Amino acid sequence: MKLLAIESSCDETAAAVVENGRTVLSNVISSQIDIHTLYGGVVPEIASRKHMERINNVVEQALSEAGMGLKDMDAVAVTYGPGLVGALLVGVAHAKALAYAAGLPLIGVHHIEGHISANYIEYPQLEPPFLCLVVSGGHTHLVRVADYGVYEILGKTHDDAAGEAFDKVARAIGLGYPGGPKIDKLSKEGNPRAIAFPKGQIADAPYDFSFSGVKSAVLNYLNQSAMQGIEVNAADVAASFQKSVADVLVEKTMAAVRNTGMKKLALAGGVASNSAIRAAMREACEAEGIEMFCPSPVLCTDNAAMIGAAAYYEFRKGVRHGLDLNAVPSLQLGER
Ligand code: KG4
Ligand code: ZN
Repeated sequence: MKLLAIESSCDETAAAVVENGRTVLSNVISSQIDIHTLYGGVVPEIASRKHMERINNVVEQALSEAGMGLKDMDAVAVTYGPGLVGALLVGVAHAKALAYAAGLPLIGVHHIEGHISANYIEYPQLEPPFLCLVVSGGHTHLVRVADYGVYEILGKTHDDAAGEAFDKVARAIGLGYPGGPKIDKLSKEGNPRAIAFPKGQIADAPYDFSFSGVKSAVLNYLNQSAMQGIEVNAADVAASFQKSVADVLVEKTMAAVRNTGMKKLALAGGVASNSAIRAAMREACEAEGIEMFCPSPVLCTDNAAMIGAAAYYEFRKGVRHGLDLNAVPSLQLGER
Protein backbone atom coordinates (compact mmCIF):
# COMPACT_ATOMS: atom_id res chain seq x y z
CA MET A 1 0.00 0.00 0.00
CA LYS A 2 1.41 3.39 -1.02
CA LEU A 3 0.65 6.56 0.86
CA LEU A 4 1.33 10.18 -0.02
CA ALA A 5 1.96 11.97 3.28
CA ILE A 6 2.08 15.70 3.98
CA GLU A 7 3.46 17.54 7.02
CA SER A 8 3.24 21.31 7.61
CA SER A 9 2.66 21.74 11.36
CA CYS A 10 5.56 24.10 12.04
CA ASP A 11 8.40 25.35 9.86
CA GLU A 12 9.12 22.47 7.47
CA THR A 13 7.02 21.89 4.37
CA ALA A 14 7.33 18.15 3.80
CA ALA A 15 5.89 15.40 1.63
CA ALA A 16 6.79 11.73 1.31
CA VAL A 17 5.71 8.52 -0.36
CA VAL A 18 5.75 5.56 2.03
CA GLU A 19 5.04 1.93 1.21
CA ASN A 20 3.40 -0.37 3.77
CA GLY A 21 4.29 2.01 6.62
CA ARG A 22 7.95 1.03 6.68
CA THR A 23 9.59 1.72 3.32
CA VAL A 24 10.33 5.31 2.32
CA LEU A 25 10.16 5.83 -1.45
CA SER A 26 10.75 9.58 -1.15
CA ASN A 27 11.07 12.07 1.71
CA VAL A 28 11.20 15.73 0.67
CA ILE A 29 11.69 18.41 3.33
CA SER A 30 11.75 22.11 2.54
CA SER A 31 12.99 23.85 5.67
CA GLN A 32 12.17 27.47 6.48
CA ILE A 33 14.92 27.77 9.08
CA ASP A 34 16.83 30.42 7.09
CA ILE A 35 13.87 32.78 7.19
CA HIS A 36 12.85 32.25 10.82
CA THR A 37 16.48 32.58 11.97
CA LEU A 38 16.25 36.29 11.08
CA TYR A 39 13.55 36.67 13.78
CA GLY A 40 15.08 34.37 16.41
CA GLY A 41 12.21 31.87 16.22
CA VAL A 42 9.27 30.67 14.14
CA VAL A 43 6.93 33.49 13.01
CA PRO A 44 3.57 31.72 12.48
CA GLU A 45 2.30 34.09 9.78
CA ILE A 46 5.47 33.70 7.72
CA ALA A 47 5.40 29.92 8.23
CA SER A 48 1.90 29.63 6.71
CA ARG A 49 2.78 31.86 3.78
CA LYS A 50 5.94 29.86 3.00
CA HIS A 51 4.00 26.57 3.24
CA MET A 52 1.56 27.95 0.65
CA GLU A 53 4.38 28.96 -1.67
CA ARG A 54 6.16 25.62 -1.42
CA ILE A 55 3.62 22.87 -0.89
CA ASN A 56 2.82 22.27 -4.56
CA ASN A 57 6.46 21.78 -5.53
CA VAL A 58 7.27 19.69 -2.46
CA VAL A 59 4.39 17.28 -3.18
CA GLU A 60 5.30 17.11 -6.89
CA GLN A 61 8.91 16.39 -5.99
CA ALA A 62 7.94 13.65 -3.52
CA LEU A 63 5.86 11.90 -6.19
CA SER A 64 8.49 12.29 -8.90
CA GLU A 65 11.33 11.07 -6.66
CA ALA A 66 9.22 8.00 -5.92
CA GLY A 67 8.75 7.62 -9.69
CA MET A 68 4.97 7.75 -9.32
CA GLY A 69 1.90 9.86 -9.82
CA LEU A 70 -1.10 10.53 -7.63
CA LYS A 71 -2.91 7.72 -9.49
CA ASP A 72 -0.44 5.20 -8.00
CA MET A 73 -1.31 6.20 -4.40
CA ASP A 74 -3.77 4.30 -2.22
CA ALA A 75 -4.42 7.14 0.25
CA VAL A 76 -3.40 10.65 1.22
CA ALA A 77 -2.25 11.34 4.80
CA VAL A 78 -1.73 14.66 6.53
CA THR A 79 -0.79 16.04 9.94
CA TYR A 80 -3.88 17.82 11.33
CA GLY A 81 -2.57 18.65 14.81
CA PRO A 82 -1.03 19.69 17.10
CA GLY A 83 0.88 22.63 15.69
CA LEU A 84 0.46 26.18 14.40
CA VAL A 85 -3.10 26.50 13.09
CA GLY A 86 -2.23 28.54 10.00
CA ALA A 87 0.61 26.17 9.13
CA LEU A 88 -1.48 23.01 9.66
CA LEU A 89 -4.30 24.40 7.53
CA VAL A 90 -2.10 24.60 4.44
CA GLY A 91 -1.24 20.90 4.59
CA VAL A 92 -4.79 19.86 5.51
CA ALA A 93 -6.37 21.89 2.67
CA HIS A 94 -3.83 20.57 0.18
CA ALA A 95 -4.32 16.95 1.25
CA LYS A 96 -8.10 17.29 1.07
CA ALA A 97 -7.90 18.74 -2.43
CA LEU A 98 -5.64 15.91 -3.63
CA ALA A 99 -7.77 13.22 -1.99
CA TYR A 100 -10.93 14.67 -3.52
CA ALA A 101 -9.41 15.11 -6.99
CA ALA A 102 -7.98 11.59 -7.07
CA GLY A 103 -10.85 9.91 -5.22
CA LEU A 104 -8.49 8.63 -2.52
CA PRO A 105 -9.15 8.01 1.19
CA LEU A 106 -7.91 10.76 3.52
CA ILE A 107 -6.15 9.99 6.82
CA GLY A 108 -5.49 12.72 9.38
CA VAL A 109 -2.47 12.01 11.59
CA HIS A 110 -1.41 13.25 15.02
CA HIS A 111 2.03 14.87 14.74
CA ILE A 112 3.43 13.10 17.83
CA GLU A 113 2.11 9.77 16.58
CA GLY A 114 4.18 10.54 13.49
CA HIS A 115 7.32 11.16 15.55
CA ILE A 116 6.83 7.85 17.39
CA SER A 117 6.25 6.04 14.08
CA ALA A 118 9.58 7.28 12.66
CA ASN A 119 10.97 4.32 14.60
CA TYR A 120 8.97 1.88 12.45
CA ILE A 121 10.81 3.20 9.39
CA GLU A 122 14.27 3.01 10.89
CA TYR A 123 13.65 -0.38 12.52
CA PRO A 124 11.48 -2.63 10.35
CA GLN A 125 11.54 -5.28 13.09
CA LEU A 126 10.19 -2.98 15.83
CA GLU A 127 6.69 -3.85 17.03
CA PRO A 128 4.71 -2.59 20.02
CA PRO A 129 4.63 -2.78 22.95
CA PHE A 130 7.47 -0.43 23.79
CA LEU A 131 8.14 2.71 25.78
CA CYS A 132 8.76 5.93 23.85
CA LEU A 133 10.32 9.19 24.98
CA VAL A 134 9.09 11.95 22.66
CA VAL A 135 11.20 15.08 22.96
CA SER A 136 10.51 17.83 20.44
CA GLY A 137 10.22 21.61 20.23
CA GLY A 138 6.63 21.52 21.42
CA HIS A 139 6.34 18.27 23.41
CA THR A 140 8.02 16.15 26.04
CA HIS A 141 6.05 12.94 26.57
CA LEU A 142 6.80 9.55 28.06
CA VAL A 143 4.43 7.20 26.30
CA ARG A 144 3.70 3.50 26.60
CA VAL A 145 2.92 2.33 23.07
CA ALA A 146 0.64 -0.59 23.90
CA ASP A 147 -0.17 -1.36 20.26
CA TYR A 148 -0.20 0.45 16.92
CA GLY A 149 -2.08 3.68 17.58
CA VAL A 150 -2.73 2.80 21.24
CA TYR A 151 -0.96 5.12 23.64
CA GLU A 152 -0.81 5.56 27.38
CA ILE A 153 0.80 8.84 28.39
CA LEU A 154 2.85 8.17 31.52
CA GLY A 155 4.28 11.64 31.88
CA LYS A 156 4.65 15.01 30.21
CA THR A 157 6.14 18.42 30.78
CA HIS A 158 4.48 20.89 33.12
CA ASP A 159 6.02 23.91 31.39
CA ASP A 160 8.62 24.19 28.61
CA ALA A 161 9.21 21.31 26.21
CA ALA A 162 12.80 20.05 26.11
CA GLY A 163 13.41 21.57 22.65
CA GLU A 164 11.89 24.87 23.75
CA ALA A 165 14.40 25.00 26.64
CA PHE A 166 17.25 24.27 24.21
CA ASP A 167 16.05 27.06 21.90
CA LYS A 168 15.62 29.62 24.71
CA VAL A 169 18.99 28.85 26.31
CA ALA A 170 20.69 29.02 22.90
CA ARG A 171 19.17 32.44 22.29
CA ALA A 172 20.40 33.66 25.71
CA ILE A 173 23.93 32.43 24.96
CA GLY A 174 23.71 34.23 21.60
CA LEU A 175 23.72 31.13 19.40
CA GLY A 176 20.52 31.90 17.48
CA TYR A 177 17.74 29.67 16.16
CA PRO A 178 17.25 26.70 16.16
CA GLY A 179 19.14 26.28 19.38
CA GLY A 180 19.22 22.51 19.82
CA PRO A 181 21.77 21.63 17.13
CA LYS A 182 23.91 24.66 18.06
CA ILE A 183 24.04 23.75 21.75
CA ASP A 184 24.80 20.15 20.79
CA LYS A 185 27.79 21.30 18.70
CA LEU A 186 29.14 23.89 21.14
CA SER A 187 28.83 21.45 24.07
CA LYS A 188 31.48 19.24 22.51
CA GLU A 189 34.04 21.94 23.40
CA GLY A 190 32.73 22.47 26.96
CA ASN A 191 32.88 20.79 30.36
CA PRO A 192 29.46 19.32 31.28
CA ARG A 193 30.43 19.37 34.97
CA ALA A 194 31.55 23.02 35.03
CA ILE A 195 28.25 24.40 36.38
CA ALA A 196 25.69 22.47 38.45
CA PHE A 197 22.35 23.51 36.93
CA PRO A 198 19.19 22.13 38.63
CA LYS A 199 17.40 19.02 37.45
CA GLY A 200 13.66 19.66 37.38
CA GLN A 201 11.55 17.32 39.52
CA ILE A 202 7.80 17.35 40.06
CA ALA A 203 6.51 16.21 43.46
CA ASP A 204 4.37 13.03 43.27
CA ALA A 205 4.74 12.83 39.47
CA PRO A 206 7.93 10.85 38.84
CA TYR A 207 7.43 10.71 35.05
CA ASP A 208 6.52 14.38 34.56
CA PHE A 209 9.08 16.92 33.42
CA SER A 210 9.85 20.58 34.10
CA PHE A 211 12.46 22.48 32.14
CA SER A 212 11.62 26.07 33.07
CA GLY A 213 13.78 25.82 36.24
CA VAL A 214 16.97 24.86 34.45
CA LYS A 215 16.27 27.44 31.74
CA SER A 216 15.84 30.20 34.38
CA ALA A 217 18.97 29.02 36.20
CA VAL A 218 21.00 29.43 32.99
CA LEU A 219 19.52 32.91 32.40
CA ASN A 220 20.29 33.91 36.01
CA TYR A 221 23.82 32.58 35.71
CA LEU A 222 24.36 34.64 32.55
CA ASN A 223 22.83 37.80 34.08
CA GLN A 224 24.78 37.54 37.33
CA SER A 225 28.03 36.95 35.47
CA ALA A 226 27.35 40.01 33.28
CA MET A 227 26.59 42.17 36.34
CA GLN A 228 29.80 41.07 38.02
CA GLY A 229 31.79 41.63 34.83
CA ILE A 230 32.74 37.94 34.67
CA GLU A 231 33.20 36.55 31.19
CA VAL A 232 31.31 33.27 30.83
CA ASN A 233 32.59 30.23 29.00
CA ALA A 234 29.67 29.66 26.60
CA ALA A 235 30.76 26.09 25.81
CA ASP A 236 30.73 25.19 29.53
CA VAL A 237 27.27 26.76 29.95
CA ALA A 238 25.95 24.85 26.93
CA ALA A 239 27.49 21.53 28.02
CA SER A 240 26.32 21.90 31.64
CA PHE A 241 22.78 22.80 30.57
CA GLN A 242 22.69 19.89 28.12
CA LYS A 243 23.91 17.49 30.82
CA SER A 244 21.21 18.64 33.22
CA VAL A 245 18.51 17.97 30.57
CA ALA A 246 20.06 14.64 29.54
CA ASP A 247 20.34 13.47 33.17
CA VAL A 248 16.68 14.18 33.87
CA LEU A 249 15.51 12.53 30.65
CA VAL A 250 17.59 9.42 31.33
CA GLU A 251 16.64 9.18 35.00
CA LYS A 252 12.88 9.46 34.45
CA THR A 253 12.81 7.33 31.32
CA MET A 254 14.79 4.53 32.93
CA ALA A 255 12.54 4.65 36.01
CA ALA A 256 9.54 4.22 33.68
CA VAL A 257 11.28 1.36 31.84
CA ARG A 258 11.94 -0.42 35.13
CA ASN A 259 8.49 0.13 36.62
CA THR A 260 6.57 -0.86 33.51
CA GLY A 261 8.79 -3.88 32.85
CA MET A 262 9.28 -2.78 29.24
CA LYS A 263 12.23 -4.28 27.41
CA LYS A 264 12.26 -1.86 24.48
CA LEU A 265 12.78 1.91 24.54
CA ALA A 266 12.34 4.17 21.51
CA LEU A 267 13.31 7.84 21.25
CA ALA A 268 11.50 10.32 19.01
CA GLY A 269 11.34 14.02 18.13
CA GLY A 270 13.89 16.67 17.21
CA VAL A 271 15.69 16.61 20.57
CA ALA A 272 16.26 12.85 20.16
CA SER A 273 18.88 13.79 17.57
CA ASN A 274 20.98 15.32 20.38
CA SER A 275 24.26 13.41 20.54
CA ALA A 276 24.70 13.63 24.34
CA ILE A 277 21.13 12.54 25.06
CA ARG A 278 21.40 9.60 22.65
CA ALA A 279 24.74 8.53 24.14
CA ALA A 280 23.56 8.82 27.77
CA MET A 281 20.36 6.92 27.03
CA ARG A 282 22.27 4.22 25.13
CA GLU A 283 24.66 3.75 28.04
CA ALA A 284 21.79 3.45 30.53
CA CYS A 285 19.94 0.97 28.30
CA GLU A 286 23.04 -1.16 27.83
CA ALA A 287 23.60 -1.25 31.60
CA GLU A 288 20.04 -2.50 32.18
CA GLY A 289 19.72 -4.83 29.17
CA ILE A 290 17.10 -2.69 27.41
CA GLU A 291 16.97 -2.61 23.63
CA MET A 292 17.12 1.01 22.44
CA PHE A 293 15.74 2.42 19.19
CA CYS A 294 16.50 5.90 17.92
CA PRO A 295 15.78 7.12 14.39
CA SER A 296 18.53 8.84 12.41
CA PRO A 297 18.44 12.65 12.83
CA VAL A 298 16.54 13.32 9.57
CA LEU A 299 13.70 11.12 10.83
CA CYS A 300 13.82 12.65 14.35
CA THR A 301 13.11 16.22 13.20
CA ASP A 302 9.92 17.07 11.32
CA ASN A 303 9.34 15.10 8.12
CA ALA A 304 6.43 13.56 6.23
CA ALA A 305 7.76 9.98 6.03
CA MET A 306 6.93 9.55 9.73
CA ILE A 307 3.37 10.77 9.01
CA GLY A 308 3.09 8.13 6.26
CA ALA A 309 4.25 5.43 8.68
CA ALA A 310 1.67 6.43 11.31
CA ALA A 311 -1.07 6.76 8.69
CA TYR A 312 -0.49 3.23 7.39
CA TYR A 313 -1.38 1.73 10.78
CA GLU A 314 -4.33 4.09 11.16
CA PHE A 315 -5.54 3.03 7.71
CA ARG A 316 -5.29 -0.64 8.66
CA LYS A 317 -7.49 0.08 11.67
CA GLY A 318 -10.09 1.59 9.37
CA VAL A 319 -9.47 5.22 10.24
CA ARG A 320 -10.70 7.52 7.43
CA HIS A 321 -11.36 11.23 7.60
CA GLY A 322 -13.95 13.15 5.62
CA LEU A 323 -13.42 16.28 3.60
CA ASP A 324 -14.58 18.21 6.67
CA LEU A 325 -11.22 17.41 8.34
CA ASN A 326 -9.93 20.54 10.05
CA ALA A 327 -6.67 21.58 11.67
CA VAL A 328 -6.73 21.00 15.45
CA PRO A 329 -3.86 23.01 16.98
CA SER A 330 -4.07 21.39 20.43
CA LEU A 331 -5.00 17.84 19.39
CA GLN A 332 -4.30 15.33 22.18
CA LEU A 333 -2.42 12.09 21.54
CA GLY A 334 -4.90 9.26 21.07
CA GLU A 335 -7.75 11.65 20.17
CA ARG A 336 -9.34 11.01 16.75
O1 KG4 B 1 10.46 17.48 16.32
P1 KG4 B 1 10.87 18.80 15.86
O2 KG4 B 1 11.59 18.91 14.53
O3 KG4 B 1 9.67 19.78 15.79
C1 KG4 B 1 8.63 19.79 16.73
O4 KG4 B 1 7.70 18.97 16.57
O5 KG4 B 1 8.73 20.59 17.66
O6 KG4 B 1 11.79 19.39 17.02
C2 KG4 B 1 12.39 20.64 16.91
C3 KG4 B 1 13.16 20.87 18.17
C4 KG4 B 1 13.76 22.27 18.26
O7 KG4 B 1 13.48 22.78 19.54
C5 KG4 B 1 15.24 22.03 18.07
O8 KG4 B 1 16.06 22.96 18.74
C6 KG4 B 1 15.39 20.64 18.68
O9 KG4 B 1 14.25 19.94 18.23
N1 KG4 B 1 16.61 19.95 18.21
C7 KG4 B 1 17.62 19.59 19.02
C8 KG4 B 1 18.63 19.03 18.19
N2 KG4 B 1 18.17 19.05 16.90
C9 KG4 B 1 16.93 19.62 16.94
N3 KG4 B 1 17.76 19.71 20.35
C10 KG4 B 1 18.91 19.28 20.89
N4 KG4 B 1 19.93 18.76 20.16
C11 KG4 B 1 19.83 18.60 18.82
N5 KG4 B 1 20.84 18.08 18.12
ZN1 ZN C 1 7.76 17.63 15.37
